[in-house]
Amino acid sequence: MKILTVVGARPNFMKAAPIIAAIKQHNKGLQAPPSGGHEPSRKTIQHVLVHTGQHYDDVMSDSFFRDLNLPEPDVHLGVGSGSHAAQTAEIMRKFEGVVLAERPEIVIVVGDVNSTMACALVTAKISFDSGGTRPLIAHVEAGLRSRDRSMPEEINRILTDHLADLLFVTESSGVDNLMREGIAPEKIHYVGNTMIDSLLSFREKADSSRILEALGLLSAVPENGSPSSPLPYALLTLHRPANVDDRETLQGIFEGLDELASQMPVIFPVHPRTRKRIDGFSLNLGKILHSNSAENPKIRLIEPCGYIDFICLMKNARLVLTDSGGIQEETTCLTVPCVTIRENTERPVTLIHGTNILAGTSAIGIRRAINHQLGKEFQRNWPEKWDGNTADRIVEILCRLREGETTSSKEPAAVST
Ligand code: UD1
Repeated sequence: MKILTVVGARPNFMKAAPIIAAIKQHNKGLQAPPSGGHEPSRKTIQHVLVHTGQHYDDVMSDSFFRDLNLPEPDVHLGVGSGSHAAQTAEIMRKFEGVVLAERPEIVIVVGDVNSTMACALVTAKISFDSGGTRPLIAHVEAGLRSRDRSMPEEINRILTDHLADLLFVTESSGVDNLMREGIAPEKIHYVGNTMIDSLLSFREKADSSRILEALGLLSAVPENGSPSSPLPYALLTLHRPANVDDRETLQGIFEGLDELASQMPVIFPVHPRTRKRIDGFSLNLGKILHSNSAENPKIRLIEPCGYIDFICLMKNARLVLTDSGGIQEETTCLTVPCVTIRENTERPVTLIHGTNILAGTSAIGIRRAINHQLGKEFQRNWPEKWDGNTADRIVEILCRLREGETTSSKEPAAVST
């Protein structure tokens, strides 16, 4: 069986890595002697990794390959940045040739970025023969809905889900959303969250990160020789176009952080989009924003972090403030209080089970949410199936689906978990 997995942008890498590791493990299991108990009908999976190049910097892409032990991509499309239309079109144009050359039986796309939707659309329309034979499309992280169509990710999610043959869902709201939209139940598989697989695999390694030391966030080593402990700090990420592309909104968000920043440093790894906006807008922020840590650091701008360093920063923070989707999920599992600087979330399980609260984007809403969350202690209450085994479940389903079949088919034959 040949599976092709697509990655393109930063949040894809940690969602795809466990699936690639599970495929490797599956193949390793087949090499074991029969006493190992494997089923003789099981086939080796040939895997092809395609990187579209939507993200291309070391900090946005390469460092994640290193941290997550991802193999080098077999194919790199080198697409780079552009408008939504130009980027999507360029990915589609280049990806079509790859699918025709590789002829995979299954194409896996993850998440909600432009690369996800572009490659799903190419796969849905491709034909290997006059009978319309094409690969099955598997969407990992299907079914999430913010109900806010001004978000490019919402458009990408809806289109990808309606093109997919297999929909791997992270939380129960995703199943409800897909059923409501008329997706056939046999295509939907509630398997859990591969991003949490990665988090659980790497959270201990994060303790070896030197980022706290590098940022001066460790207390001095006590004389009794016990280890130094993290000083109080908050962690901030912002990159949604709706938050950072509008000057007034961005100004309001920073004003909402002023009280917090007077109590503890707010560490802010700055996404390239946000860096451009901060540099371009002349924001009226008084002394809130300091890129220089030396004098009275308030909001400290730093370069985007690698995966391991970022987990370390999340784990030890008193509070995380973000407009990212994945960070709402990761803080839920780390039981760190999270304030989401958005009006809505496509991940309601993080509000119900998790440590997350929606603040909106006004200064007053953000201040109120910070006061509500700061100092709060949460019990571990992980959502169902967020157990570190989601990628294994996905590979198992794909194998069951393809057992006994040798070619990709026109009619998908999805199986139910
Ligand atoms: C994309 C995803 C978003 C995801 C985010 C994580 C879409 C529609 N959006 O948004 O869902 O949460 O990635 O970061 O797919 N840039 C660099 N270096 C890079 C990549 C980008 O400097 O390696 C700069 C470019 O100037 C680019 C800008 O960042 O114009 C934005 O990148 P882009 O891929 O268009 O979207 P993101 O905002 O990163």
